[in-house]
Amino acid sequence: MNIVTCIAPVNIAVIKYWGKRDENLILPLNDSVSATLSIKQMNAKTSVMASPNFTEDKIWLNGREETFHSQRLQNCLQEIRRRAKQRADGKDDGVSDWCVHVCSENNFPTAAGLASSAAGYACLVFALAQLYNVSGDISGIARQGSGSACRSLYGGFVRWHRGSASDGSDSIATQIVPHSHWPELRILVLVVSDKRKKVSSSSGMQNSVKTSELLKHRVSHCVPQRTEAVIKAIINKDFETFADITMKDSNQFHAVCLDTFPPNVYMNDTSHAIVNLIHEYNIASGKNKDLIASIRMEPHEPGLLKYLIHTEVGVGPQVLDEPHHHLLTDAGLPKVLV
Ligand code: DP6
Repeated sequence: MNIVTCIAPVNIAVIKYWGKRDENLILPLNDSVSATLSIKQMNAKTSVMASPNFTEDKIWLNGREETFHSQRLQNCLQEIRRRAKQRADGKDDGVSDWCVHVCSENNFPTAAGLASSAAGYACLVFALAQLYNVSGDISGIARQGSGSACRSLYGGFVRWHRGSASDGSDSIATQIVPHSHWPELRILVLVVSDKRKKVSSSSGMQNSVKTSELLKHRVSHCVPQRTEAVIKAIINKDFETFADITMKDSNQFHAVCLDTFPPNVYMNDTSHAIVNLIHEYNIASGKNKDLIASIRMEPHEPGLLKYLIHTEVGVGPQVLDEPHHHLLTDAGLPKVLV
């Protein structure tokens, strides 16, 4: 049966991607670096199926049918079909001409800054690559679905190279180190809002490219040095330098959003209070006293934090072989609809 089910991870950028030089191919202005988060806590799961009986390409996301006519979806599907037809063995079994049904779900909130599109597109492209037997780098295909998705195709720490070719052929992700390199590292995701962002990443960054002087400075003067320095810190497991660069790059990204006109504000008072707490914690942990007692911070009212995810760096996308994992029935329809 021509059905494949996969899961793919979320990634969190430590050097942020913000700004494109090509909107259609999704080519970034700068390199970015991320950590792939364990699929145990957060993942996208996708089943893809091809059949000569299907009359059109169809997609269901989180139990609802969505249009397949989005440019980004079309670009990914066309590119993977083109690669399938070009396969080195030369024989095309015809599968790439059949229509596909795609069913995908996330186990975490969409569009709340947790890169659901990254996990989603990485999972879709990875699953299609299995279905069509496409080998070689596929991060450049996932990139065309959502920029940050290219980084979710690898585990561990990952670099997305901006590249310089106008066709995007060198704008791909590569692994810096596998997840096993720094096993003692833990990641806490503190969710202060699970509502959809008012301004999407795509339109927010488009506006930043048009209006922010700070973004120009960031791209030409800050990111190149920071990228090299953070990669060195990762390889050397130098947590202090790693954390320092990560915090500064996040702050600069938010500063660019504020420098955008009209400004985009993604953090709220609770986010800022958390940042303060981390700095207070770091100061307090350097002192030889009771840690909690020496943190200079008043308690906040309860309920400000929606939830907290404790996770670690993990592996890239995985194939799920057992039939009970499939999100589609043998007839190619979703097992669950909402
Ligand atoms: C702030 O990858 O969601 O998370 O390429 O337009 O789909 P598109 O944008 P997207 O942007 C992610 C922005 C970010 C930083 C990052 O992940 O590097």
